[in-house]
Order: sequence, then structure tokens, then C-alpha cells
Amino acid sequence: MWAPPLGAGEPIPGALLPHLACPTTSGTGSECTSLSVIRINDLKTKFVLGNPLLLPDEALVDPTCCDSLPGNIVASTGFDLLSHAIECYTSKAYTRWAKVGDPRKRPYLQGANPWSDLAATRALELVGKYLERGVNDASDSEARDQLMWAATLAGMAFGNTGTHLPHALSYGITHLMHDITTDDYAVASPFIPHGISVIASAPAIFRYTAAGAPERHLEAANSLGADTSDAGNEDAGELVAGRIVELMNKTGMPNGIGDLGFAEADIKSLAASSVRQLRSIANAPRETNLQDIENIYAAALSYG
Ligand SMILES: [Fe+2]
Repeated sequence: MWAPPLGAGEPIPGALLPHLACPTTSGTGSECTSLSVIRINDLKTKFVLGNPLLLPDEALVDPTCCDSLPGNIVASTGFDLLSHAIECYTSKAYTRWAKVGDPRKRPYLQGANPWSDLAATRALELVGKYLERGVNDASDSEARDQLMWAATLAGMAFGNTGTHLPHALSYGITHLMHDITTDDYAVASPFIPHGISVIASAPAIFRYTAAGAPERHLEAANSLGADTSDAGNEDAGELVAGRIVELMNKTGMPNGIGDLGFAEADIKSLAASSVRQLRSIANAPRETNLQDIENIYAAALSYG
């Protein structure tokens, strides 16, 4: 099932046992995707399995499962859902694929499409409105309920669309992290939560990708709550980045990958690791090579 060098790449042999998914964080949306992420500490690696057979049979989404979550975990998982939604909305459009007669033969992750746009846009509106409240006040059940719904919506979107550069560049961070454990996670060092590894580079990424789909970036910034009333396409990247940094600051997130223990000397290694995420990189709205990724990591060291 796992691709080489971890496994022989054999397909899942058939239907799996019944799968009832009940999320206990408001982030991954995995209760409605066909994707699983596995981390193998001994091999210092993390990878994704994607197969329609992995889609749960039923999802039981109960926000009260998150009542006891520390704010830092609501924040990191909330930024995961935020990034799922904005990556969906700004990814390359589904129309790039050649037409095929049988819809079942269309690519599994298709890129931005009208159906995922609906869910992604609503998820961005909700996370923009409720993230700060849900992180900073555990008793704010309205905010935490809405974050859970937003996570499910974003999962519906990205399970159909795929992610792009923020998730691709999170892999280098996860593979190379050292001597760090984020607060409120009861795990051994080194550990950086997925949502933090994703969002740490995101402002620098959207400053870069906006040129490939400026209208979409502008619409996403607006959905997240940025004031876009006097903005033009040339402002799109800055508006998305600025709104994300604002939310990161208000929720106690690291101020770039420098706060995760990385320095300029790590940039080439980070880029060399992440450039292997071919599918996600190809889903970005702008062509991206190794040098571009190095430039993005350099810009993501700190957001001032
Ligand atoms: Fe994610």
C-alpha cells in the first residue's frame, strides 16, 4: 500500500471495515476526506495515503468533543482548516485537465471547482470570524461550534480539490524539525503540530502565488475578513498575507519559521525536502521551482 521506499506500493485489496469518523479537533476535516496522514517517527517521515476506500462511511461531527481542548490546539487546528479552505479556493482550476468521457476517470484531486468553492468560501468566512474567539475563550461555544463546522466544510472542499504550497512546504518543516515541542501537546520533542507547520510559511506563499490568481486571492482575503473595498488585483497577496499574520498574532502563533527553530542556513535543506511534494506543487496557481521555494522559506523566517 505504501509507495517505495517505505513499502511495495501495492493497492488496498478491497473494501475496509465500517468506518465511523468522529473528529476531536476542528481542523483536519478528515471525517469527510479519503486522505490519511501517517507519521513514522523512527524514519523521521510523514506522508499521505489517498484512496476512495479510506472515505468514512459515516461522520459524527459533535463540537462538544472539543470543549476541553486547550486554546493552542484550537489555534493550530484552526489554521489547518483555514489553509485547507484558502488553498482550495486559490488552487489551479479543475478545467486544466483534458476532458474524459467517464467521470470516474477524472483525477481524484481536481483543483478548484464550483462545488468546492462553495464550501471553501463559507469555511473562510467562519474561520475569519470565529478563530480568535474560539482560541481565546474555551467557553465560547458559538465560536467553537462554528469552527467545527468550518473544519468539516474545508474537508469537503480539499478532499475534492487538493491542497497546494502551504501543505507542500509544511513537509520540509516536519521532516527537519529539531529540539522543539509546541505548548499544550503532550508529545516528545521534536514535534510541530501540522497546522502550525502549514501556516508558518503561508503568508510568504500567498504573497508569491497571488500573481497567478489575483482575483481569487482578493476574494479569499475578503472572505477572511480583510477590508478589500479599495483594493485592486495588485494588492491581493498582501491582503491575504496581512490578514493571516493578523490572525496568527491574535492567537499566539509563531511569527514565521524562525520561531520554529529554523534559520537561513536551513533554507536549502527545507526546500530540497519540500520540492518532492509534486502533486501539491502542481496544484498551485503559479509555476513553482526549487529556487522559488527557497525564496519563499527565506521570506517566511519572520513577518516583522
Ligand atoms: Fe492539513
